[in-house]
This record gives sequence, structure tokens and C-alpha cells, in this order.
Amino acid sequence: MKKKEIRIGLIGRGLMGKMHANAYSRIANFFPEVEHVPVLQAVCSRNEEKVKAFASQWGFKSYETDWKKMVERDDIDAIDICTPNHMHAKIAIAAAKAGKMVLCEKPLSSDFEEAKAMVAAIEEAGVPNTIWYNYRRMPAVTLAKQIVDSGKLGKIFHYRANFLQDWTINPELPQGGDALWRLDVDAAGSGVTGDLLAHCVDTAIWINGGIEDVSALTKTFIKERVHQDSGQVQKVGIDDASIFHCNFKNGSLGLFEATRYARGHKALYTFEINGENASLRWDLHDMNWLEVFDYSDEPAIRGWRRVQITEGEQPYMDRWWIPGTSIGYEHSFIHQAADFFISLDKGSDCPPTFKDALETEKVCRAVLESAKTRSWVKV
Ligand SMILES: NC(=O)c1ccc[n+]([C@@H]2O[C@H](COP(=O)([O-])OP(=O)(O)OC[C@H]3O[C@@H](n4cnc5c(N)ncnc54)[C@H](O)[C@@H]3O)[C@@H](O)[C@H]2O)c1
Repeated sequence: MKKKEIRIGLIGRGLMGKMHANAYSRIANFFPEVEHVPVLQAVCSRNEEKVKAFASQWGFKSYETDWKKMVERDDIDAIDICTPNHMHAKIAIAAAKAGKMVLCEKPLSSDFEEAKAMVAAIEEAGVPNTIWYNYRRMPAVTLAKQIVDSGKLGKIFHYRANFLQDWTINPELPQGGDALWRLDVDAAGSGVTGDLLAHCVDTAIWINGGIEDVSALTKTFIKERVHQDSGQVQKVGIDDASIFHCNFKNGSLGLFEATRYARGHKALYTFEINGENASLRWDLHDMNWLEVFDYSDEPAIRGWRRVQITEGEQPYMDRWWIPGTSIGYEHSFIHQAADFFISLDKGSDCPPTFKDALETEKVCRAVLESAKTRSWVKV
């Protein structure tokens, strides 16, 4: 059968631009049955020399330096947004209005009202869409979701998650501009809340259901930094650390922490779920393993089991190598890209959709509000 080509227009050629270009390039090899296939039609970023080199290196047929031109092009079917957060809304809304499919990096937006407008635009246009909360597609995380859904854990009591980094401890690090836009509140919207906690919240809502209310603390440890654009010392507007506890709608308690000031930790995303019959634990630094404690095990040998997630029976792993050999971070993006094209084959959604991702935005907004007002906030 002739494949249906989906011509991709990728906007942004940084870390995620590379990650997505790589993901699209792997689909035909590892998901050969999928009928809708990506074509690397065009890539966009502002610097012509660099975007031209990127297009040539990754096999894009053409390039643009103005995202508006990219969105207007008739030979593009899907816009993929890999720019800093404050660009997401304007690009996504314009793309939806132009009738393009929209794939967008997380978080939905740097601003809650804009995030709502993005969902409205996407819903009105009725175009296929997805947000790249890629951790859902790590095989061990997908398996954790399946185990919880099977009821094996019984009633859930606790959900706790951390996302710990240490790369902004140096007070000499400037804010703003290329590479350091995450430290600039105007580009990022928030600090670790939107950048790191958002991942933890998306996974938590997916696995353990909605969050009812939150009580949070945020901290900006370094209050002033030079801004790369102005060259002036400016106030830092982002949260450097963000901690909250919450009630889930299913009656369980949640505990979450994200920071860029945990010396020694690079990307320690972990979660643990404690149910009445069993518990699960996962760690991004050891992503091919899931730890399981099952109280129904024979008492004499009952204990935490470390299960290697590389068997063909485990999520996505029938696509890759042989049992015992690992896959990496990039595979979660390949899985998400593949799931998007599979969803086009089936005519179904590819979660998290823009609408799904708004739930995470609501929690992040409540976290920031709670920290500001020092009170419990309903989501
Ligand atoms: N899913 C994940 O795990 C994950 C990981 C990292 C980043 N992200 C998200 O991906 C997005 C991009 O992050 P990144 O780490 O790739 O950033 P980055 O700084 O590495 O790359 C951003 C790119 O956007 C381009 N850009 C900026 N303004 C532009 C404009 N006006 N027109 C065209 N291009 C423009 C820059 O030139 C650069 O190529 C962010 O929203 C971030 O939150 C998600």
C-alpha cells in the first residue's frame, strides 16, 4: 500500500529540534507498518547559516528563517514546535488556523491564558495534535501505568516524584538569550515549575489521575543575573526550586519536588507509587528498570524486585534489539512520534493532546499561586 506522506515543518533546531528530527527519521525503519509517514520537508530558525547547515545535516528538503512563512506554506502538513516556551502559543494558534496538524513541545505555553487559547484554537480547527510529554513513552513508565491500571497496586496511598538538577548554581551564569532562555521569565514563563515539575505532573496525572488541590513553596536562590540581551544585571523572575504536596482525586497524597540546585544531580527524575498491595519505583538515570514490591509474594522471599524492561513483551521493546540490551532517552521521542502517526492511521487522538496538557498547566498555575499566597489552592 502506498504510504501517506505527512510533510513536517520543524520550528527550532536546538536540543529538541535534533531530538524530533532523529525521531522522525527512525519511524520507517522501526515502525514499518505505519501508513502515515513523516517527510522532513522544512526546518526553521532565525540564523540562516545555521538553519541551512542543520537542514543539510538532518536531511530536510528546505529551510525558513521566519516561522510565519513556514506556517503559510502549502507544502507543509504538520508544524512541530521546538522553540522556547513563549513562542509556543503564537505558532500553534497560527498553525491551527492554517489547518495544519500541530505537535508542540511541553509545556503548553509560558502563560496560562495563552495555553487556554491554544486549546481553543486546536479544538476549533479540529486538527490532529500532541504535546511531547515524552516520559509517558519510556517503556518502564508505560509499564508502570499498565500495572496501576490493572489494579495490582489496589488502593493508592502515595505518589511522590522528584526532578533534580544542578546546572544553575553558578551565580555568574547569565539569563536570557540562546541556550539560557530557561532562566528568563519572559521566555520561559516560570522556572523549574514549568520546565521540570510539569513533566512529573503530566506523568502523575496520567498514572494516578487528577489533582484536586496543592500547597506549594517556591524559591529563587539567585535573585539577580546579567541578562544576555541587555548586558545589564536584572532581577531573576523564575523559581529555582519548587516543592508541593497535594490531594489527588482518588484520595491519595502527592509529594513533588523540582530544583536546579541539587548539587550532584543532572536529571534525577524519579517517581514512586505506594498502593495497598504493591509499590512501584522508577528512576530516569536507570530508565530501563522498574522496581516492584508485591505484598502477595511468598513472605520468605518478599522484597523489592528490580525488573529489567528489555523484553519483547514489555511496552515498545519488541521494536528494539534483544533482551538485556538497553535503549535510551531518544527512544521515548521515537515512540511518541510513532504513536502520533499510528493515531493518524487509526483516526484517534495521540495523548497527551493540547486539551490533556492543559490539566498539567492548571496544576502548575495552582503551584505558583499557592507559593505566592502561602495558601492551599484548588486546581
Ligand atoms: N520533552 C522534553 O523532555 C524536553 C526537553 C528539553 C526541552 N523541551 C522543550 O522544548 C522546547 C525547546 O527547548 P530546547 O531545549 O530545544 O531549546 P534550545 O534553546 O536548545 O532550542 C530552541 C530553538 O528555538 C529556536 N528559536 C528561538 N526563537 C525562534 C524564533 N523566533 N523563530 C524560530 N526559531 C526560534 C532557537 O534558534 C533554537 O534553535 C522548550 O519548550 C522546552 O521546554 C522539552
